Amino acid sequence: MFQIRPFDAPLGAEVIDIDLGKPLAAADYERMINAFHDHSLLVFRDQDITPEQHIAFSKRLGELQVHIQSTYHLPGYPEIYSISNVVDENGKPIGLADAGKVWHTDLSYVTQPSRCSLLHALEVPHDDSGKPLGDTLFASTIRAYEALPDATKRRLVGLKAMHSYMHIFDKITAMKRVGAANLVPLTEEQKKKVPDVMHPVVITHPYTRKKILFVNEGITVSIAGLPQAEGAALLQELVDHAHKPEFVYRHSWRAGDLLMWDNFSTQHLAMHDYALPRRRRMRRTTVQGSTPVYDPLPT
Ligand SMILES: [Fe+2]
Repeated sequence: MFQIRPFDAPLGAEVIDIDLGKPLAAADYERMINAFHDHSLLVFRDQDITPEQHIAFSKRLGELQVHIQSTYHLPGYPEIYSISNVVDENGKPIGLADAGKVWHTDLSYVTQPSRCSLLHALEVPHDDSGKPLGDTLFASTIRAYEALPDATKRRLVGLKAMHSYMHIFDKITAMKRVGAANLVPLTEEQKKKVPDVMHPVVITHPYTRKKILFVNEGITVSIAGLPQAEGAALLQELVDHAHKPEFVYRHSWRAGDLLMWDNFSTQHLAMHDYALPRRRRMRRTTVQGSTPVYDPLPT
C-alpha cells in the first residue's frame, strides 16, 4: 500500500513504496491518478524499470506520442525519447542534450498536447561535493492563473495564442553551447507534421476543471486578435508571470527517479549547469491529451 506525501511547495508529491515495474491494481491506479490530479507532479524514487515497463506504465494513461525528433528515439522504442548529454563510442549523441532550456510545456505545439510526461533518470550529474546538478523547475499554471488580477482574467477570456515547435527549436539553437547543442534540423516533411497551432490562452483542465494559464515562453509565439504590439506585450507579461518563484517547485534528481507531470497544470525548465564528463541520461514518454478548451462554466 503506497503512501502519498505532498511537498511543501506549490505542486508535487512523492509516492512512497511503489514499484512501477509491476502492474498497479485498478484501485491503486485510481488512487495514484487522483493524487496526480491533486498535485500535478508525482515523484517515484528508486525505480529500476526497463523501457518496456516504462512504456507499459505510461500506456495506462493513454496513447503515447512519438517525438518529431526521431534521431533521439531510444533504439527499438520510438515511444521513448532519449534526453542525454552522453555520446557513444563514435562520438554520436545518444540523446537530446539541449532539452528544456527555456520554460515550456511538452508538445504544446500540437493540436492535442501531452496530457503528461514521464521522465526516468538513469544517470544524474553531480558537482565535486556530491550535490546533484541538472535540476528541473516546475511551475503551477493553476496558481499562475489564480494569481492574475481580475481585470487580466477578464481580458484573457476568448483570446487564443499560437504555439510553434519551430519557435522553441530556433530559441534553443540560438542558445547553443560548444559541444552541446544537438538539435537536428527537421526535414520539410517533418516540418509539415508540426504546423503551428492555436490554443486558448486560458484553458479548463480536462479532469479537474480548474482554470489554467496556457502560454509558455518557449513555444507560444503570439496572441491572436490584438494589435501586434499590444499582443506581444501581453504575451511577455503572461509568460514572465507564469514562472514566478511562488508558483515553482524545484526538483533535484536522483538516479532511479521517475517524474510524472501534468502538462496542462504545469510548465517546466531544465537547468543546464553541468557538462561532460558529468553524465546525464534520461528517458521520457509523453501521453497524448485532449484538445485544450476554455469552458466558461464555473468550477
Ligand atoms: Fe520538457
